[in-house]
Amino acid sequence: MINSIKDTIKLADGNEMPMEGFGTYKLDNQETMDQAVKTAFECGYRLFDTAQFYNNEELLGNSIKKLEINRKEIFITDKIPEPKQGYQSTLDAIDESLSRLQTDYIDLILVHWPIHSQFFATWRAFEKAKADGKVKSIGVSNYHQTHLDLLSTAADEMPVVNQIEDHPYLTQEPMVAANKQRNILTQAWSPMGRGATLQDPTIKSIAEKHGKSTAQTILRWHLQRGISIIPKSSNPERIKQNANIYDFNLSDDEMKQISSLNQEQRTGDDPELVYEIEHQYPTK
Ligand SMILES: NC(=O)c1ccc[n+]([C@@H]2O[C@H](COP(=O)([O-])OP(=O)(O)OC[C@H]3O[C@@H](n4cnc5c(N)ncnc54)[C@H](OP(=O)(O)O)[C@@H]3O)[C@@H](O)[C@H]2O)c1
Repeated sequence: MINSIKDTIKLADGNEMPMEGFGTYKLDNQETMDQAVKTAFECGYRLFDTAQFYNNEELLGNSIKKLEINRKEIFITDKIPEPKQGYQSTLDAIDESLSRLQTDYIDLILVHWPIHSQFFATWRAFEKAKADGKVKSIGVSNYHQTHLDLLSTAADEMPVVNQIEDHPYLTQEPMVAANKQRNILTQAWSPMGRGATLQDPTIKSIAEKHGKSTAQTILRWHLQRGISIIPKSSNPERIKQNANIYDFNLSDDEMKQISSLNQEQRTGDDPELVYEIEHQYPTK
């Protein structure tokens, strides 16, 4: 079990990744990013999750620079959006991200959403970028089991992380098991359902027993399921709170109670539907 926010897990490719990271979606001005990144780093967060789609890579790069730390002390996750998918366009997009982040490597690059037209070409570009040392690890986001199966027909290396929406109202047990079976770490985006799960009475009562907040209880529930988390907050107190989840344990019964709250409630699209409508899987 992970005992500290700085603890890492070994991914299938041998690289180490912190289990808890800091989400940066919607942090869109330099002052807020600077304050959030500084607070997060001081609280022990070492993983920062961005995406080209968030339009904040440069802000994050600037904030990290201001920390005046060794690049190796932090782990950066980035994502390639749908319009940039394809072989050469993905390679070019990675170079653009490196420039905006002001770094010479990205720790983990993810396909943000699967799209049918560039499904294999984007992955080939990821394998090339890894061989070239521009990215250390390659992964996916919003992939279902069928996407992983399809990818395995042509991939030299499989993804080491699948970042999917996961929270008490969308527990994704089959997908989590499918990732595990393929040696892929599940990482939860919107780990608190973007706020939707924070008033839940069952979680509230479990949280009160431990003297913790509902947010802390939910984040702890993820970790005890072996799921990586990237909570986002722009509030220093909440950034701190979300890192303070390593001094209590949920019992098996409490874990089951939270898992039983699943109601297949998504905050984002269902990638299976988005992917399938009017499209078929491409052939190699
Ligand atoms: N791969 C993908 O497709 C994808 C999609 C969505 C998100 N993501 C990534 O996942 C990260 C996290 O997801 P998210 O930002 O959508 O949702 P989230 O982390 O589940 O929730 C963030 C919301 O909860 C609030 N919050 C945070 N900590 C809290 C606490 N301790 N108590 C009460 N409220 C709290 C935040 O408000 P304040 O800021 O005011 O504290 C914010 O409104 C994103 O930032 C992004 O990096 C990836």
